Amino acid sequence: MAFTTHTVWVTTGDKKNAGTDANVSVRFHSGDGSTSTDVIKLDNFFRNDFERGRQDSFSVTATVLDHIDHIELWRDSAGVYDEWHLNTVEVLCRKSGRKYIFPFYRWIKADYHYRIRHLDTSLPSDSDPFKDQREMELVEMKKLYEIEAQSPGMPGQVKCLPPDENFSDDYKWDIQSKKITLKLTSKIQEYFTGEWNNLDDLKNVYTKESLFLPNSALHWQEDEYFGSQRLTKVNHSVIRLCTVIPPNLAVTDDMAKPLIEGLTLQQAMDAKRLFFIDYKILEDIPCSGGRMICAPIALFFVNKDQKLMPVAIQLKQKPGQDNPVFLPTDPEYTWLTAKLWFNNADCSFHQSFTHLGATHLMMEGVAVVTNRNLSRSHPVFKLLAPHSLYLLAINTRALGKLVSPGGWVDKAMSIGRLGMFEIVTRQCGNWRMDVDGTLPNDLERRGVLDETVLPGYHYREDALPLYNILSKYVNNYLVLYYDSPKKIQTDKEVQGWAQELVKPVSEGGCGMQGIPGNGTFETLDQLGKCLTSVIFTCSVAHAATNFAQYDQYGFPPAYPAAMNGRPPTDKSPLKEECVLAALPDKPTTLDTMIITKILSDKGTNSLGDFEISYIVDPKAVEVVEEFRYELKKLSLAIKEKNNHRNPTYPWLDPDEIPNAISI
Ligand SMILES: [Fe+2]
Repeated sequence: MAFTTHTVWVTTGDKKNAGTDANVSVRFHSGDGSTSTDVIKLDNFFRNDFERGRQDSFSVTATVLDHIDHIELWRDSAGVYDEWHLNTVEVLCRKSGRKYIFPFYRWIKADYHYRIRHLDTSLPSDSDPFKDQREMELVEMKKLYEIEAQSPGMPGQVKCLPPDENFSDDYKWDIQSKKITLKLTSKIQEYFTGEWNNLDDLKNVYTKESLFLPNSALHWQEDEYFGSQRLTKVNHSVIRLCTVIPPNLAVTDDMAKPLIEGLTLQQAMDAKRLFFIDYKILEDIPCSGGRMICAPIALFFVNKDQKLMPVAIQLKQKPGQDNPVFLPTDPEYTWLTAKLWFNNADCSFHQSFTHLGATHLMMEGVAVVTNRNLSRSHPVFKLLAPHSLYLLAINTRALGKLVSPGGWVDKAMSIGRLGMFEIVTRQCGNWRMDVDGTLPNDLERRGVLDETVLPGYHYREDALPLYNILSKYVNNYLVLYYDSPKKIQTDKEVQGWAQELVKPVSEGGCGMQGIPGNGTFETLDQLGKCLTSVIFTCSVAHAATNFAQYDQYGFPPAYPAAMNGRPPTDKSPLKEECVLAALPDKPTTLDTMIITKILSDKGTNSLGDFEISYIVDPKAVEVVEEFRYELKKLSLAIKEKNNHRNPTYPWLDPDEIPNAISI
């Protein structure tokens, strides 16, 4: 009996139909292909090999090569289930003790002889002996991953969900069954009949378990809380430094002086203590069910206690008799109602653009063109892949249900589905990667990059170090593969990717503006900035806008997705009943609590802890390790900060940020 010379480990993917009954064979080849082993059949007696999600090991006897450069692997079509998704093959040469890793991460077609190199990380090159295989696979990917827009002006989405993008069973997204489970376990529906009796009654429908009372319920009527919603909650990137009073805002010194510590508006602006939000973009947005939303402008002031306080809210754009400037000194419930209508506009923008448009949809287009243009052997593919886990699936399946005609958005949000699409279309048309999608530039444009301006801006405090860590990680990784600009300029795959990022959606691209290099990467800096923006958006930006949804929407008075009736047109004193009548009814409240609770639950790994380790090249693994170390350090620092912060800001602790937009 021959001695065993090698151990071979084969890991089958954890996907539907990933396991195979086919016969699998391999050969090992030396560098120049002159020396090869005989055909090795991978088969363990009395064992069902290559089952989904499993690793099988084989002890084999073969010629011992000085070095295994690449593996040749193929399967036949035997058995009822012959399809196979192969993750990796690892080979240990017992004589030399050397271990070789062959990352496949592909579906293996019957009778095709795949050739994968040890570590399989390379730029495309004309001298690549397996160039044809690489090109053949990209041709197939281009058929599987095609872009189209739901309606003109919307970001591009995948035409048909490729099987590779589906959820694994342990992460099955079934919104209907999750909803039913939440309702049953909380036994909550018994509280949801009849009318609200008074404002305190709004807090009486929560349970101690899953549908607990959100923190927002404790402070929602306070002006200080209203200010902190701009800085520490889901819609964190709208506020701007005020250097000129917005021309449509009819606020005067007389109105403002008592609210800004006796300063004039000019003095407050000179001291960089005045800020504003202008929702002109929401003018004439269509609404569902006869409802309406405002297009408000609001002014805020940083007081001597370093708190951001609201100074004035004008609910419509055009100043006039029927469009007063509401002030905190107005009758209590009139001012509260103005804040509710402002927040209704704010959450319409949040859900449509900050969340759906700027993260879920924009990044879907990027994921599609990545799969179309970058081979699985490309280092940039390996860098990006963990950050699009389940993104196409969540957009196709879950958002398809929530944003469908008559779905949750139509029922529970004033804007409904069509209003949401209109906001996405308007704002995504303005979006630029080098400004809106590049955190330091976005903060600078809004006049809030300087940390002494706008204290308490927790999003900025935590997101900036994350951006810097990501940027360092990306650049340290890229220099391993691009040691000169020429290598970028001649990289056909990465240049094809750049072109499709900017190509109009109608022509099959993402139609993105502000891509560094505008469709051609000339330098490492351009490529690095683009990749940092993509990974930041998929991880940090999405986490910041997603996971506090239950905290906000889960108590509708704090952040009402829908409002009844019409906004106030004068300052006459309103009663508590008027506020109650404007808020969503009990069934809509329950529906919003349940949906936003589901959307706020994290089901995937934290940033840097990748579900699939595409990166196996040892020098790149070192870069990943350093990235993880930096994240761990930041996580400890943020946890320490949160011991003293008011309000606390857990949303960008790296332990809480998933790698991808999976929910
Ligand atoms: Fe999300």
